[in-house]
Amino acid sequence: MLNGGRSKISDLLRTEQRNIDVVVKGWVRTKRGNKNVAFIALNDGSTIHNIQVVVDPAAFDEELLKSITTGACVRVNGVLVDSVGSGQPVEVQAREIELYGGADPNVYPLQKKGHSLEFLREIAYLRPRTNTFGAVLRIRHAMAYAIHKYFNDHGFYYLHTPLITGSDAEGAGAMFSVTTLDLNNVPKDAEGKVDYSQDFFGKPCNLTVSGQLEGELGALALGQIYTFGPTFRAENSNTPRHLAEFWMIEPEIAFYELEDNMELAEDFLKYLIRYALDHCMDDLEFLNKMFDDGLIERLNFVLAHDFVRLDYSEGIEILMKSGKKFEFPVSWGLDLQSEHERYLVEEHFKKPVILINYPKEIKAFYMKLNDDGKTVRAMDVLFPKIGEIIGGSQREENYDKLRQRVEELGIPEKDVWWYLDTRRFGTAPHSGFGLGFERLLLFVTGMANIRDVIPFPRTPKNAEF
Ligand code: 4AD
Ligand code: MG
Repeated sequence: MLNGGRSKISDLLRTEQRNIDVVVKGWVRTKRGNKNVAFIALNDGSTIHNIQVVVDPAAFDEELLKSITTGACVRVNGVLVDSVGSGQPVEVQAREIELYGGADPNVYPLQKKGHSLEFLREIAYLRPRTNTFGAVLRIRHAMAYAIHKYFNDHGFYYLHTPLITGSDAEGAGAMFSVTTLDLNNVPKDAEGKVDYSQDFFGKPCNLTVSGQLEGELGALALGQIYTFGPTFRAENSNTPRHLAEFWMIEPEIAFYELEDNMELAEDFLKYLIRYALDHCMDDLEFLNKMFDDGLIERLNFVLAHDFVRLDYSEGIEILMKSGKKFEFPVSWGLDLQSEHERYLVEEHFKKPVILINYPKEIKAFYMKLNDDGKTVRAMDVLFPKIGEIIGGSQREENYDKLRQRVEELGIPEKDVWWYLDTRRFGTAPHSGFGLGFERLLLFVTGMANIRDVIPFPRTPKNAEF
């Protein structure tokens, strides 16, 4: 067994066996007791629950026991027995304890329980050791696994799209440039502009904001693909819903129209939420108790209801008639802010909403133009507490129409010639969408700030760990 010579605490808390020898290894959450007995609450990350280790102080070296403080890492050999206390089914009666590493109580930052999330962000290198981040990170893993499982079970291929890109066609956000030029001594051309011919790729390059354009190339060959990787946006947006580095899932499907795309998005989201309820209940119950007492109810609620499908224009009408004072005033053509999205979802419909057919001016060049010539076959899935969780569309497959949009928007041909070519060679109707992984995790964990659902958040002025 590849178990590092130990039993996982999650397994021991489930087993029916008693009076067996066990080895547990983990980090001390608390130690309490008196001269006659000590109790160590040990956690190894396999579950939100600790196992209780019972120690007879007389049988152990005093110095060793003194070093076993909150945060220390130990190996315990002992016997698994029914617990006398009421808090847990079993406990380990220690026979032998080895200290792997102490954690000096005078300096170890995670002494008490109940540190604020803001404080924990400052010590992001240690916060996985807390119950909260243990729960969030286990759910994050489960969701990543479920995403791959869903697509694999539905016959999608996982396509790896590049992180470094030579095109800025998507226009989804400001980009980070990738260069090996010496910024203190930048080579210039005859006109005094940066001479990128001397740069690593011989041209300006950036970190990608989305894998979609390359994803479309895959869909028009393999039929249905998805990407799942990091994306980068250099906007200076300091909000609880934006990261500079976030993970996105982007399925792209040949022969899908907008209606198929909406059905896939709803089925996919519900599958993921159901997966979390089926596989992560211990962690969800913890988060429900500690942070958001409506969490589990909200997850079940979304599963139980059809998403509303609504035209952008109707959405605007509802917002205008709402009588609500919004920070950004509403009129047709407005790019919805999260206050508008959340009004529709939380106050008006009280259900997730898929908003479609947006004005072309506020959406990307590749979206399929409707017959009205004004709107495009875009779809945003709006969720309670989150706002936009998914953005997607049917793509423009007509070469002339796509080309016209590219020209109208002044997108340089050299950036998109290969993309346009897909519409010259065996073009097909197709659609896709992007799910923000951390936005999904905000919804599933009930956490309020996106910095708390990714292990190492990247935001303006923040890339320490
Ligand atoms: O709506 P967006 O910009 O769409 C795209 O990038 C398309 N290429 C997707 C596609 O059709 N294949 O981004 C998609 C999703 C958003 O709905 C949101 O959930 C998330 O990505 N997102 C962010 N998440 C965290 N931080 C940010 N700065 C985000 N920007 C977008
Ligand atoms: Mg969007």
